[in-house]
Amino acid sequence: MTELRGKKYHIITFGCQMNEHDSETIAGLLQEEGCSQARNRMDADIVIINTCSVRENADKRFFGTLGQLKKQKAANPAFAACVCGCMMQQEHIVTQVRRQYPWVDVIFGTHNIHEFPQMLDQLYQARSAFAGEEDGEGNEDLIRMSDHDYTRAKHEIRSARDTRVERIYEDRKEIVEGLPAKRLFPHKSFVNIMYGCNNFCTYCIVPYTRGREKSRRPEDILREVKDLTADGVREVTLLGQNVNSYKGVSLAGEEEKVWDFADLIYALDEIPGLERIRFMTSHPKDLSEKLIGAFRDCGKLCRYIHLPVQSGSSRILAKMNRRYTREQYLDLVKALWQAAPEITISTDIIVGFPGETEEDFEDTLSLVREVEYDSAFTFLYSKRKGTPAAEYEDQVPEEVKHQRFNRLVDALNEISLRKNAAYIGTTQMVLVDGASKKDPGTVSGRTDGFKLVDLEGDESLAGKIVPVEITEGRTFSLRGRLKK
Ligand code: 5AD
Ligand code: SF4
Repeated sequence: MTELRGKKYHIITFGCQMNEHDSETIAGLLQEEGCSQARNRMDADIVIINTCSVRENADKRFFGTLGQLKKQKAANPAFAACVCGCMMQQEHIVTQVRRQYPWVDVIFGTHNIHEFPQMLDQLYQARSAFAGEEDGEGNEDLIRMSDHDYTRAKHEIRSARDTRVERIYEDRKEIVEGLPAKRLFPHKSFVNIMYGCNNFCTYCIVPYTRGREKSRRPEDILREVKDLTADGVREVTLLGQNVNSYKGVSLAGEEEKVWDFADLIYALDEIPGLERIRFMTSHPKDLSEKLIGAFRDCGKLCRYIHLPVQSGSSRILAKMNRRYTREQYLDLVKALWQAAPEITISTDIIVGFPGETEEDFEDTLSLVREVEYDSAFTFLYSKRKGTPAAEYEDQVPEEVKHQRFNRLVDALNEISLRKNAAYIGTTQMVLVDGASKKDPGTVSGRTDGFKLVDLEGDESLAGKIVPVEITEGRTFSLRGRLKK
């Protein structure tokens, strides 16, 4: 694909780690074709917006960003404006892009990422073919226009009707293996272990945008992690919408064997050179005793779990189709504490799910105080078209949602601050990511329990696991000094 060689790209990513990793794959694919990363958006020949549809404000931010690309396209007709990700799996969004954003050149879905370089190639070919046609007879409609209109219309037609490339599959049976990725950090990497989701929580759009659950083969995952460690990676984060329901069919050996998620962790724990294993996200309904046991047995498995609770009220959990109760969730937390007393726990909480009463919300507050989360992502319930909860009639008024949200955040912050202060005077092993952007002379990294730590130091510490004495505990991070 000679047309791609030498082109500069810029990727704008919204949403979760899955999307971040997809963007790394897109970057890897483009680099293989001889492209390089642009210094910034304005410097790029190709801009890709990787979208998220989990909440409404992500939609809004996407359309805002898309608007900004119009000028860039007008200034440079050779420019390629590309959009992908979860939003493109929704018919009404794609229709809106087609109608209102004629300068978009390439639209691709979450199941078509590996085809992106071919799609770009197709775009460039269609453009040269179109330019060729223009030299001939010309178009009646265009000729009747004034010069100014002609330029604009020619440009719009070129991008909108004649050359746009679209590829969006609803789902895909087979997993595409062997895709490259341009990692954000040399020393740590995301590794997808499965794709899609079968759970259909009533508020969530993901099962509609990412398709059904599919697990990668264990041997493919193990090979990828071994290759990564050979390339300097010390920490992997295993990714999936619900890693606890991983079911990988192994074809190695005499007969087919099905691996569960814990089997995978135990096998990864044996890989020489790998030092830390993390994973996200865990659905509480599928968190097995065997996996809890892995926190006790596997030295490389970080003592940290992200365990989204969503609500502390069993009544609301049932309406959300979460398939566990408050009591079952608390029992899991107790089992985790028993297996690994130092474990840190984070969560996701939705405030203002339809029908949530003050009493339900207080159940959430009391659960938060009982678990004492180290950190939490809190969300205002947001209606997602096509999901069951969007049709529920008992929607919570916005001001009630906001007021509960603030009360929840206050409770969570107070707990985080108290827990982080308790680290003062302890020594934590920190994997340093690199220099802090805000604070020159400071580097930051993560403890085994995923606490963010800032310390004095320079780039030479990046990628190293170092002992750090904690000197300060803040709400969202710790501060410390390198122990000699
Ligand atoms: N409204 C608000 N939050 C949502 N999430 C998913 N869907 C919605 C929605 N419609 C949150 C859940 C999930 C996280 C990734 O996003 O808490 O765990
Ligand atoms: Fe969405 Fe529920 Fe699947 Fe998570 S488990 S992706 S919240 S449907």
